[in-house]
Amino acid sequence: ATRKIAVIVGSLRKESFSRKVAKTLMLLAPSTLEMEIVEIGQLPLYNQDDDDAPPALYTEFRAKIMEFDGVLWVTPEYNRSVPGVLRNAIDVGSRPYGQSAWSGKPCGVVSVSPSASGAFGANHHLRQSLVFLNMPAMQQPEAYIGNADKLFDGDKLNNESTEKFLQGFIDAFASWVERHAD
Ligand code: FNR
Repeated sequence: ATRKIAVIVGSLRKESFSRKVAKTLMLLAPSTLEMEIVEIGQLPLYNQDDDDAPPALYTEFRAKIMEFDGVLWVTPEYNRSVPGVLRNAIDVGSRPYGQSAWSGKPCGVVSVSPSASGAFGANHHLRQSLVFLNMPAMQQPEAYIGNADKLFDGDKLNNESTEKFLQGFIDAFASWVERHAD
């Protein structure tokens, strides 16, 4: 079956390495995955007071996420955690209480950094939330994409071993989604 995957990118930067990695994964994905980047930069900061009369941008975002069978998180690391913009999107999608748009959706985590550490801190901070959000997160292969500033010529990946790795990752992710969907 075809599975619809929401790709959430944790950076708003125009030349974002995370976005380039996300787009590369979308190119490498098997035809069973229908992947789409869902934008998060337009979402106002979450305020619990709005739960009773949520802004249209919240309800649209929640409804949109509901359409998908799975989620692929591709994020940079800010101060050893995820950027606030990603945190905000997670919170918006998770409310009102008991109506989380994320719940039950299988997911994968890819962290990206120009530094060699590959944004390990962001990757694992995110995983802590995924447990509470009830999202089965693929454990292996892990994806810590380091030295990301050297991997692209324009938007094109220039590194063969990284391409091989990302191919293996997205193939494993397709199997993960298949196993946990429905
Ligand atoms: C960073 N950066 C960063 N990098 C890292 O590996 N660990 C970190 O904790 C941080 N912290 C951090 C905080 C803030 C506020 C900024 C703006 C940046 C650097 C970061 O990895 C770099 O800017 C990346 O290029 C961001 O990812 P995108 O936008 O290229 O996807």
